Amino acid sequence: ALPSHISLFEVGPRDGLQNEKQVTTADKILLVENLASAGVNRIEAASFVSPKWVPQMADSGEVLKGISRVAGVRYSALTPNLKGLELALDANASEVAVFAAASEGFSQKNINCSIEESIERFIPLMEKAKEHNLPVRGYVSCVLGCPYDGEIAASEVARVSEILYKLGCYEISLGDTIGVGTPAKARKMVEAVAAKVPADKLALHFHDTYGQALANILACLETGIRTVDTSVAGLGGCPYAKGASGNLASEDLVYMLHGMGIDTGIDLGKLIEAGNRISAALGRQNGSKVARALSV
Ligand code: HMG
Ligand code: MG
Repeated sequence: ALPSHISLFEVGPRDGLQNEKQVTTADKILLVENLASAGVNRIEAASFVSPKWVPQMADSGEVLKGISRVAGVRYSALTPNLKGLELALDANASEVAVFAAASEGFSQKNINCSIEESIERFIPLMEKAKEHNLPVRGYVSCVLGCPYDGEIAASEVARVSEILYKLGCYEISLGDTIGVGTPAKARKMVEAVAAKVPADKLALHFHDTYGQALANILACLETGIRTVDTSVAGLGGCPYAKGASGNLASEDLVYMLHGMGIDTGIDLGKLIEAGNRISAALGRQNGSKVARALSV
């Protein structure tokens, strides 16, 4: 059966802006605040990674510290290692996320270590997060294909997902990093992972490079998943996945879900305004078709 509610996990300020040209810290703060005003209650606002690798995220501490926080909204940060976790704690992130991959090639290019080494690195991070009662989310990249290793077995996605879940990640986000997946394959992959991790602890994180993300999400809606990651205005890409485009636009998913009678708690009009404002700051067209259709 279809769910009655889907929780959107908004990644535009992080996954989006990490791969766009630099905007000011004030623009980032305004984006996060506008998203919260639209009713988005889970927002990835920061990334504590090496500024040499991703200079766009270098002001993550100032962003998190500068936001006027809204009760009930969780402001998340990516943290690849203990150093990242310390910075996230200092900036009072509501939760953090570790990120692994289902492919060795991508793991090496993205975080400069193997899958197993990345998991070793996450163990002390998870312990420290637990001491601070900080929830940790886990990402698995390349779940439907890798720019370096090609096809990825669903069993490998399930294996890495289960490890992260057993380490204590409260939710596992399945990343189609390069957007190559198609609906039947996406659903089979989610079902394979759901045999190891409860489906309501999974999230879909589908980039829209090939225009398949909305169809892939629709194909997975009856698997028991309850969370989808999206990016307002379709912002972004990935610096370590050549040719990748942004995640599915939040506005497009909200429009589809509301049209199907599935609640999100989000005000589509305000969401569109938030996307239009950051698109103007970037000097680019809003990447959401729904936003463009409703903004004329
Ligand atoms: P490394 O070079 O192997 O590590 O990088 P290192 O420990 O030797 O550190 C090198 C330098 O980085 C040192 O500085 C450290 O202090 C610094 P130096 O001495 O050279 O001046 N450093 C840090 N600085 C700030 N914050 C930190 C931090 N850690 C080390 N946390 C590392 C390893 C993981 C740090 C690096 O490879 C890195 O930053 N990678 C991040 C790449 C990234 O951000 N990718 C995009 C996000 S993932 C994604 O988009 C996919 C996702 O959306 C899901 C999907 O779509 O599939 C999540
Ligand atoms: Mg991503």
